[in-house]
Amino acid sequence: MNVEGTSGPYQGVDTHALAVAVFKDEKADDGFLKDLDAASGGVVKSAIDSEEFKGKEGETAYLHLPPGGLKAQRLLLIGAGDKAEYDAARVSELGGTAARFLRSKSVKSVAVVPRLEGDPELIAARVVEGAIMGLFEIDKYRTSDKEQKVIDRLIVVVDGADKDALNRGVKRGQIVGESVNFTRDMANEPGAYLTPTNMAERAQEIASEFNLSIDVLDEERMQKEGMGSLLSVSRGSDEPAKLIILKYTPAKPSNDNGKLLALVGKGITFDSGGISLKPGENMELMKYDMTGGATVLGAMRAIAQLKPPIPVLGVAPCSENLPSGKATKPGDIVRAMTGKTIEVINTDAEGRLVLADAIAYAKKLGATSIIDMATLTGAVSIALGDVHAAVLGTDQELIDEIIAAGKEVGEKFWQLPLDKEYSKQIKSDIADIKNVGGRKAGTITAAAFLKEFADGVAWAHLDIAGTAWGDEAKPYRAKGPTGIAVRTLINLVDRASRSE
Ligand code: BES
Ligand code: MG
Ligand code: ZN
Repeated sequence: MNVEGTSGPYQGVDTHALAVAVFKDEKADDGFLKDLDAASGGVVKSAIDSEEFKGKEGETAYLHLPPGGLKAQRLLLIGAGDKAEYDAARVSELGGTAARFLRSKSVKSVAVVPRLEGDPELIAARVVEGAIMGLFEIDKYRTSDKEQKVIDRLIVVVDGADKDALNRGVKRGQIVGESVNFTRDMANEPGAYLTPTNMAERAQEIASEFNLSIDVLDEERMQKEGMGSLLSVSRGSDEPAKLIILKYTPAKPSNDNGKLLALVGKGITFDSGGISLKPGENMELMKYDMTGGATVLGAMRAIAQLKPPIPVLGVAPCSENLPSGKATKPGDIVRAMTGKTIEVINTDAEGRLVLADAIAYAKKLGATSIIDMATLTGAVSIALGDVHAAVLGTDQELIDEIIAAGKEVGEKFWQLPLDKEYSKQIKSDIADIKNVGGRKAGTITAAAFLKEFADGVAWAHLDIAGTAWGDEAKPYRAKGPTGIAVRTLINLVDRASRSE
C-alpha cells in the first residue's frame, strides 16, 4: 500500500473513496458538514436527518456521490463519538475502520480526513498506523476464503498541514503499524511453526535488517549463567530454549547518564502447562503465550527504525512448556541465576520462571529500569477482562509513565497493588519461594514472584493475558492478536527521549 499525506483541500483529492470523521450529534447544516454536504449533493444531510447515522464511535455510513462536487465517488462517514473526547488515540481507530470498511467494498484508493486539530505529524502517524493495523488478518494459512482485496493507496488529508510534518508522520505510522503487525503475526503462529529456535531466527532477521545488535544464549550458556529457573521450563521439551538479547544503541546518545531501559517479554511458544497439564478446552490458544516476547521484538523493530537518542535492551526468554519423562515435576526445587531457590508447585506457572532469569540477566547487562510483559495469569482476565492490561511494579514513576504513554495511543493499563503482604503467599516451606501463591490475587502474587528478581532497578510488569487476544473483531481490527503494548512501549521510549 502506497501511503502519502496531503494538506488538502479534501474536495480536490483524487481518490475513489473519502472517509471523514463525523462527531456525535453533529449537525449537517453547520460548519464543516455544511460544506461537505454541499460538495456531495446533499447525501450527508440526508443520512444524518434520517437518523441513519448519528456519529457514534465506530458507526459508518457508506454513501454514493453524484458526479460534481467532490473528486471522490464514494463517501464514508465514520462516527468519531464525542468531539470533546476525540484525540489522537481515536484517530488510529478511525484509520483502522476506514481501511477495513473500504477494503470490504473493494475500494483501491482511500483518503482519510481525520478532523483532529493539532500536530499534523502525530495525526498522520495515527491514521496510518491505524489503517495498517486495521488491514491485518489472521488468514495466512487459509487456501480458500482468504481476504484477497487490497488497498493500493492511502492518503491522509490534514487541512493546511506542513508537508514535511505530514511526510514524517506517514513514515512513522508505517513503521509503528508494521511493527505491531509483526508482533501480531508472531502471536498467531502455531507452536509448530514458531519454536524458540524460530523465534530467535526472526529476531536475527530484524537485527540484520534494522541494525540491532543481537546475542542468543543457547541452553549451554544458560547453564553456565546458572539459569536453573528458565531451564527447568524447557526440560520437558525436545526444542531447546533460547534467550534472545537485542540491543539498540543510538548513534548520538542524548545523554550518557548510564541509564538503560530493558524490555523483557515472556516467550513461551506453546504452554501445555507441563506436568500440571492444562484442560484441553481452548488449549490451542496457548500458542500465543509468547506474545510478551513478540511484543519486545516488535517494539525493538520499531525503535531501531525510529532511532531515538536513548539505548534500549530487548530480552525474550523463549521455551516450550511440555510434559515428558524429563519434564520438571511439581515439588521439584530449582535454583535461579540469582541463587534463589524456587519450589515448583505448579509447572503451569512457568512464565514467571523464565522471566526470573531473564530479568536477572537484563540487570547483568546493565539495565537500570526494566519493563517486563507477559501473558502471565488467567486471573488478570477475571480482574480486568479484555479492556485493561494490568500494570504492577516497584517504581511508581515508571508505572505512571506506562499508563500515560498508553493513554496517548489508546492502550489501557490499570495498576494493581503490590504491597509486601502479598509476598507472604509465595513463601515456601522448603525453598526460598514457591511459584504459586494460592487462589487469591493470582495476578498480584505472580508479580510478587517477579519482584524477587527485580530489586535494585526501577521495575514494572505488564500482564497482558486478558488483552493480547481479541475474541471478536472490532470495526477497526480483526479478531485475534491485538498487539497490545507494542505502541505503548514505542511511545514510552519516545517520551523518554524527549525528556532527556
Ligand atoms: N499462559 C498462562 C496464562 C494465561 C491464561 C494466558 C489464559 C492467557 C490466557 C500461564 O502460564 C498460566 O498457566 N498461569 C496459571 C498460573 C497458575 C498455575 C498459578 C494460571 O493463570 O492459571
Ligand atoms: Mg529441552
Ligand atoms: Zn502456564
